[in-house]
Amino acid sequence: MKLFRKKSMDFMLRQAGGKSGLQKALGAFDLTMLGVGAVIGTGIFVLTGVVAAKFSGPAIILSFVFSGLACAFAALCYAEFASMIPASGSAYTYSYTTFGELFAWILGWDLILEYGLACSVVASGWSAYFQELIRGFGITLPLAISSAYNPANGTYVDVMAVVIVFILSAVLLTGVKQSSRINDIVVVVKIAVVLLFIAVGAFYVKPSNWSPFMPHGFGGVMQGAATAFLAYIGFDAVSSASEEVRKPQRDMPIGILSSLGICMVLYIAVSAVLTGMIPYAKLNVGDPVAFALHFVHQNWVAGFVSLGAILGITTVLFVMMYGQTRLFFAISRDGLLPKSISKLTEKTKTPSRCILLTWLMATLFSAFIPLSDLAELTNIGTLFAFIVVSIGVSVLRITQPDIKRYFKVPCVPVVSLLAVLSCGYLMVNLTGVTWIRFVIWFAVGLVIYFSYGYRHSVLGSAEQSESDLKKQLQ
Ligand code: ALA
Repeated sequence: MKLFRKKSMDFMLRQAGGKSGLQKALGAFDLTMLGVGAVIGTGIFVLTGVVAAKFSGPAIILSFVFSGLACAFAALCYAEFASMIPASGSAYTYSYTTFGELFAWILGWDLILEYGLACSVVASGWSAYFQELIRGFGITLPLAISSAYNPANGTYVDVMAVVIVFILSAVLLTGVKQSSRINDIVVVVKIAVVLLFIAVGAFYVKPSNWSPFMPHGFGGVMQGAATAFLAYIGFDAVSSASEEVRKPQRDMPIGILSSLGICMVLYIAVSAVLTGMIPYAKLNVGDPVAFALHFVHQNWVAGFVSLGAILGITTVLFVMMYGQTRLFFAISRDGLLPKSISKLTEKTKTPSRCILLTWLMATLFSAFIPLSDLAELTNIGTLFAFIVVSIGVSVLRITQPDIKRYFKVPCVPVVSLLAVLSCGYLMVNLTGVTWIRFVIWFAVGLVIYFSYGYRHSVLGSAEQSESDLKKQLQ
């Protein structure tokens, strides 16, 4: 059946072109730095406040434990796929081989939602901290342009989010990639400011603020976990480096699990200190970590933390925007979106149209839609991708047992099943509105596939795909 036509491994490797043969230079430590760099951002610096105030209360600690475990199971499955299929496009590409074209499109469309919205969430978080920092110098933006569209609060557009998305799009257009040296420095700064917050904040903790611990019960904690999940997104940056790892079988699980573990420990510590410093109900602000420090009159420390947060969030945003452009590139190269989108600019060799699309999407969403709505939609999209990838690992072990896997998930299918169950449970805990928006997004995706992608798929015609591949490989 044409709808389920699959890419063979051979097709995939040829399409990936010169990617194989990359230098194998990375070890477990580098992977951990890569993971922490891509993960710690808006989630911890911004979402903790919303989640504690609206859902979990001080039990946000438990929310982070649960969502962290769900990520760890899924992360292992990502690593196995990444170690077999060294092609850009991540989960989209994996499903093309495992489940065929229709599912690949569904997942690709889902990931566009995930990355596009994640860029917007992260940009909104950046804006909140930037505004907090310049306030320290006596500069305050007019209320109307300080946050997303919410006429009841007098806000209409988040101008600083628009500005940072514009700047990073321009940087992407120049073809610059994030260097691992810069990433290492930013990771150190990020961890340093988080530790600074914990160390200073710990002196102001009043245990009475931890009571009631679960103001909205266990259900609230799980709703909180489903939203706080965003804080862990980004670790697939680690799995996609599998081809460059010296000893993937050993280093991938160490890299993935230790970066997730470090983030989990930091998130739990920050949540405990934050909710101990200030009554949780007061935390529904754009910059809760800095806000808590101001609350205890540690204004200088708040300034440093804001600066570190801005720097850290910038790199996360860069990784997300880069991922989105590569996703558009992979889908359009396969003909499921117009092929002209993946055209490279002659001079810089960058997919400029993919970058423009990414810019447009991130700008529109971050300018006008409130952060917590964006976060929920990002999460539902990501959780769906995690589930498909986790099922895919077990399916591919049966259907294609002979493919070389540089890294294998231990205890398959138990780990895949745990990933599916835990991610599924988090999805169920997202709000009805988020589900409705998610379903609408899919319906639009299916219309696009059947009216365009189905007929233009490169894989659709063997002849066409061969000639296209030859052109690509030239
Ligand atoms: N995990 C990323 C962040 O928290 C998306 O900013």
